[in-house]
Amino acid sequence: MGRSPEQRYGDIAVIFHWLIAIFIIGLLAIGKYMVTLEENDPLRYVLTQSHKSFGITVLILSVLRLLWRFTHKPPPEPASLPSWQKRAAGGAHLMLYVLMFALPVTGWIMVSASPLNIDTVLFGVITWPHLPVLTELPNRADIASSFHHYHHYAGTALIVILLAHIGAALKHHFIDKDTILSRMLPDWSSSAFKSKIAALFVAVGAAGTGLYLSAESGNEAALLAAGDSEVSFVADVTGEQTPGIFSESQVEAVIDETTPANSSITARVQTTSLSSEDSQVEGSLPDSEWFNVAQFPEAVFTSTRVEPGDDGTLLVTGDLTIKEATTSVSFPMTLSDEDGKRVARGEFSIDRRDYDIGMESQDNDDFVGFDVLVKFRFDIALPDG
Ligand code: HEM
Repeated sequence: MGRSPEQRYGDIAVIFHWLIAIFIIGLLAIGKYMVTLEENDPLRYVLTQSHKSFGITVLILSVLRLLWRFTHKPPPEPASLPSWQKRAAGGAHLMLYVLMFALPVTGWIMVSASPLNIDTVLFGVITWPHLPVLTELPNRADIASSFHHYHHYAGTALIVILLAHIGAALKHHFIDKDTILSRMLPDWSSSAFKSKIAALFVAVGAAGTGLYLSAESGNEAALLAAGDSEVSFVADVTGEQTPGIFSESQVEAVIDETTPANSSITARVQTTSLSSEDSQVEGSLPDSEWFNVAQFPEAVFTSTRVEPGDDGTLLVTGDLTIKEATTSVSFPMTLSDEDGKRVARGEFSIDRRDYDIGMESQDNDDFVGFDVLVKFRFDIALPDG
């Protein structure tokens, strides 16, 4: 029972095994932790972005590992192993391979279909594309939500099978005292193995330095919306400019002033949080013919394009959904430093007829104007700020 080459996994198979194992255990731990954080917690955003980078890395490594496995036969199980254990191990290994792919693929589908439209930028440098078609589907939000569930269940299943896998390996090593675990352990006595590890370090170091340098030159202005947000409006009511405010809204945004096209903004406004100085306006607007807050408690804006605008502004275009209607709106957004914070502001006009607002009792503009001015501001913080 020595460490003869034919009884051991090859060096490359061993390196793939432990590299993927470390990444997967990290992804499971961070994944389970980050979903316990508040949705608008900047740490959740930062962890999710690096989770996506490491998850795609696992997908790429798993493809390479599978190709390696198809072309390099693993060592046979020890003859002494009972056949039920061989079958159990074979089943568990198959499940591990299936989940090793299922997790990154369900994650990839989830973020591709998500209406939040946040790009996957591997380690802040290489944009990994969304899966085509999914981004165009009208029911993309439902697809994203279903795959969120599959990702969650696959993660839990992987934890259970991993624990069984680790338990079995430890039992073989410490109780049965056979070679099952040791044949997958790194062979530090072999100089060939050590040089492969050294080559791996050099390759990862070179790739990391390259990625870091290009990130430094290209991405230094990527900012994340994190702080307070405020959305208000002004409507013409019987000739008076009547303001109203939504006290609850959440903005998730990546603002890249250097390369505006990398920016994305999603704002959710709770229509239930509406208030106005005019008590009649405040009383009527929640009703079914106006914002119908009982049925549509949220209005959503999702950017589709961000371009450089005039005088240092960003020109933002996106879809605004109020009740059942979605229309495209476009507006300049200014970024300024106020009280030590970076603040984004903008305003645009909507026509309430486009969203079927007040069209039963006020289908003309005698009392309530058709144009409504929407204003917003939100704080921006650096991701690590
Ligand atoms: C082997 C690779 C991966 C593993 C082991 C893994 C594991 C996990 C786990 C355990 C969670 C927590 C789920 C929950 O309990 O609700 C999670 C969440 C998440 N994963 Fe992965 N994941 C992997 C790959 C990916 C990839 C490739 C992506 C996208 C490109 C991704 C995107 C996400 C996102 C966006 C969430 C958070 C969803 C939320 O905010 O609620 N994951 N992941």
